Amino acid sequence: MSDKSNPYKVPTTGHVWDDNLAELLNDPPKWWMIGFWASIAMVVIYFLVYPSIPLVHTHFKGLMGWTAIKELKQDVSAIEKVRAKYENRLPGMSAAAILADDELTQYVTRSAKVLFGDNCAACHGTGGAGNPNFPVLVDDDWLWGGKIENIVQTITNGRRGNMPAHAGKLSQQEIADLAKHVKALSEGGEYAPGKEIFMGKGACFACHGQDAKGMTALGSANLTDGIWRFSGTEEGIIYTIAHGVNDPKDPQTRNAVMPKFGGKMSKTEINKLAVYVYKLGGGQ
Ligand code: HEC
Ligand code: HEC
Repeated sequence: MSDKSNPYKVPTTGHVWDDNLAELLNDPPKWWMIGFWASIAMVVIYFLVYPSIPLVHTHFKGLMGWTAIKELKQDVSAIEKVRAKYENRLPGMSAAAILADDELTQYVTRSAKVLFGDNCAACHGTGGAGNPNFPVLVDDDWLWGGKIENIVQTITNGRRGNMPAHAGKLSQQEIADLAKHVKALSEGGEYAPGKEIFMGKGACFACHGQDAKGMTALGSANLTDGIWRFSGTEEGIIYTIAHGVNDPKDPQTRNAVMPKFGGKMSKTEINKLAVYVYKLGGGQ
């Protein structure tokens, strides 16, 4: 071994490679050794404190008796304590009374999200954003009214708008003219030949109103606002007029039934959902 291979004057293992690479016997740094022993100590402590070692029929339970279920139950009961402050006040309160209380409203809009997700989102979309053929609940366009009482009614009793199929009552030409008129209405104009049928032979005004803005008592759509329940293309409008909505005599009719939740849900749950929907953005 030449001196050149170990210029550090440290004990070596005796291995030398290539004539000048010696394997030195330095101790690791102190901070490293402290970390090393501390990690081993941590493992031992962890094994003693938490459930760790599997035994034949059971397992070592740990000195603290900790389990994930216990921790969950503690967390849940802590949350329930916070909720109870609000939940205890809700039964017996009307939806309007909840709305009049800012703190309760905030609590309800947050907590009813899950209820909405479980019961309503399948049709109305996440957060009420709407799905094809199901109304958007986040806008201020209402078929059945956006007052809090209207919304409670809608959820409790369900809704079913009715528009008869007109294919048998009007000619294709008349229906096409009507569709042109309805489309023009939604863009702020009108189409005279269609308007004549709307106000006359078609009697559309009877449900949609003289101004075509709809009637919440009938759930008839506002035809002037450019917001479409079904379709805003001329073809789509022709289809709606020809086959109607919920017309039991026309198998191709458009279906639009809001199911009834009264009886399936508690009054408190319905009120919560009504406040939630009201606060989605369009309550009146
Ligand atoms: C099976 C599908 C379906 C489910 C589930 C459903 N809805 Fe509806 N909902 C509808 C349809 C369809 C309409 C439109 C009825 C119509 O066109 O007249 C509607 C209408 C409404 C309206 C009236 C909108 C307006 O413009 O006036 C509200 C409010 C509403 N739903 C809330 C809810 C809430 C809250 C839930 C959950 C408890 C819910 N819906 C569950 C299908 C559903
Ligand atoms: C008996 C009442 C009634 C009559 C008459 C009626 N409608 Fe309707 N109409 C409705 C209802 C209710 C709806 C809404 C259905 C829904 O969204 O649930 C509707 C929806 C519509 C829609 C769909 C709007 C959209 O947003 O997609 C169009 C278009 C329409 N009607 C046009 C007409 C025309 C044109 C006439 C005349 C031929 C007519 N309606 C006659 C009740 C009526």
